[in-house]
Amino acid sequence: MRKKVIAGNWKMNKIATEANEFVDEVAAKVPEDKQVEAIVCAPFPFLAAIVDKTKNTNLKVAAQTMHYEESGAFTGEVSPTMLEDLGVSHVVLGHSERREYYNETDETVNKKTHAAFNHHLVPIVCVGETLEQREANETMDHVENQVTKALKGLSNQQVADTIIAYEPIWAIGTGKTATSDEANEVCAHIRQVIGKITSPETAEKVVIQYGGSVKPANIEELLAQSDIDGALVGGASLKSDSFLQLVEAGT
Ligand code: G3P
Repeated sequence: MRKKVIAGNWKMNKIATEANEFVDEVAAKVPEDKQVEAIVCAPFPFLAAIVDKTKNTNLKVAAQTMHYEESGAFTGEVSPTMLEDLGVSHVVLGHSERREYYNETDETVNKKTHAAFNHHLVPIVCVGETLEQREANETMDHVENQVTKALKGLSNQQVADTIIAYEPIWAIGTGKTATSDEANEVCAHIRQVIGKITSPETAEKVVIQYGGSVKPANIEELLAQSDIDGALVGGASLKSDSFLQLVEAGT
């Protein structure tokens, strides 16, 4: 049985005192449960302190993006080497906001996915369609293309260890959640695509999250679906009590 992975993506929110308070309230309460994993995806300036605070707890720490090069003249960027050295465990790659505002492409996502594995970071690879694509019936082809390109060249084991987050762009921060059936249909398709490019056994191991206006009121129904193994949550992950409720739903 696949574990449930609940990740809170804070995006560009909080200041250091708020980040630390959140972790103080949450870290010790994350249950030791092999079936659920809780991750906080924090802005770069808070990572070192959060990694330190979460040692000996079950709360994992992710960065929200990174460069694919190990070092060099890339002003403002953060390397996989730096994240590994800090003790970060996961990294979000290809979030639609990075694709839209920072020129992230399927090719850079693929390079970053390889870089993540070279530095012992678990990649959380985001895919998802726009409203126009959904209305034009292009959702399945679009996510298939994104997933195939993101995973290109990885071993079956690396694919099995990758987390895919299906986030329909029209559902992000809008309050419009995909229905659990709509979300599950796309997650099942993603698993099929992964089965085609690796093997059905590998595809069965991959954790596929749904993201887009997930909150305590709708998470249980989403997690009850056959191919939804967790959630990547923005707004509802910012408050410690609501994040803990989301984690609790995964237990
Ligand atoms: O990465 C999480 C995300 O984009 C969803 O955001 O605020 O709709 O939960 P939100």
